[in-house]
Amino acid sequence: KTRYEIAVVHGDGIGPEVCEAGLRAIKAALPDEGKLAFREYPAGARLWQETGVSFPEETFNACRDADAIFHGAAGLPEVTAPDGTEPGLDFGLQLRFRLDLYANIRPIKLHPGVTSALRHFEPGEIDYVILRENTEGFYAARGGGNVVRGEIASDTSIITRKGTERIVRKAFELARSRNGAPRDGRKRVTCCDKANVLRSYAFFRRVAREVAEDYPDVELDFALIDAMTVHLVKRPDFYDVIVTENMFGDIISDLGAATVGGMGMSPTAEVGDDNGFFQAAHGSAPDIAGRGIANPIGTILSGGLMLTWLGERHRDNALIDAGARIDRAVGKVIRDPGLLPGDLGGTATSVAITDAVCEALAG
Ligand code: IPM
Ligand code: MN
Repeated sequence: KTRYEIAVVHGDGIGPEVCEAGLRAIKAALPDEGKLAFREYPAGARLWQETGVSFPEETFNACRDADAIFHGAAGLPEVTAPDGTEPGLDFGLQLRFRLDLYANIRPIKLHPGVTSALRHFEPGEIDYVILRENTEGFYAARGGGNVVRGEIASDTSIITRKGTERIVRKAFELARSRNGAPRDGRKRVTCCDKANVLRSYAFFRRVAREVAEDYPDVELDFALIDAMTVHLVKRPDFYDVIVTENMFGDIISDLGAATVGGMGMSPTAEVGDDNGFFQAAHGSAPDIAGRGIANPIGTILSGGLMLTWLGERHRDNALIDAGARIDRAVGKVIRDPGLLPGDLGGTATSVAITDAVCEALAG
């Protein structure tokens, strides 16, 4: 393949600003201009307000058929449906289920120049990946839960063998391809659950144990979700790859992000066997939208993940290399105190940071 189609959705709030920043970095990282073709499609909360549809079918079809999907941020908290949920979130959530994007990959990495909220840790000492199952658990009940007579509400969590096997397998493959945990260099998969209380999680753990038999070279470790929140604060350097159920992954990926500079620094890749969807882990931050001060780095790093994923998938070394260069360029830029964004205590604008990243990529 010589040309890859990228479906681009800007979304709501700061979505358009960070999306543009990400696209600029992607283009600067790729010497060959014609390799990627970008096309924009509408979706989100604003669109829902204007048209009554948050995720048009044409946008879905374009995303399904594209080589990758790149997104800013979605949702506006004040735009809610009668049941209280946010229609603006349809885009990301429906993509997960309809394209079977079962792996939500969230690298938690402390970049040079960023002071961790955990004062004892230096860049290089926090570098692990949270692998969140992205299609099951409570999220699978979305839109199907029940409120009975205004008295009793229920959503049912579903965990399947197939869903667990494939995410755990991916965790082991990822551990094999990484350098191991910062503290001891060991390749390690930590299965995070609540197996001591609920059967569905005990099942998740049992399946993880079975899959682990195929990977004797990688250590299998277990943590209960409540204890995990303590470990991620006290000994983040112990972790290499953490695999967990959907909602637990949602929660601990925000916790992890907080230890490496916050949500603004945190990229995401949501991938299945046939599609990949890339966006920062943060939301649309409507309170700072349009002011040019959003931290674009999570989205820029997500662009890097997209290039790496495309490159590995199509055995295209130029793309793999470009992905790695984005990560390095961010590391270089953020070291400069004059280029720290507001959420990291600096005053640099999104455009100034993006300019610097593009410059580092060009040089
Ligand atoms: C995330 C977000 C989403 C989630 C929301 C926006 C639906 O918080 O990607 O982590 O809950 O998964
Ligand atoms: Mn989340």
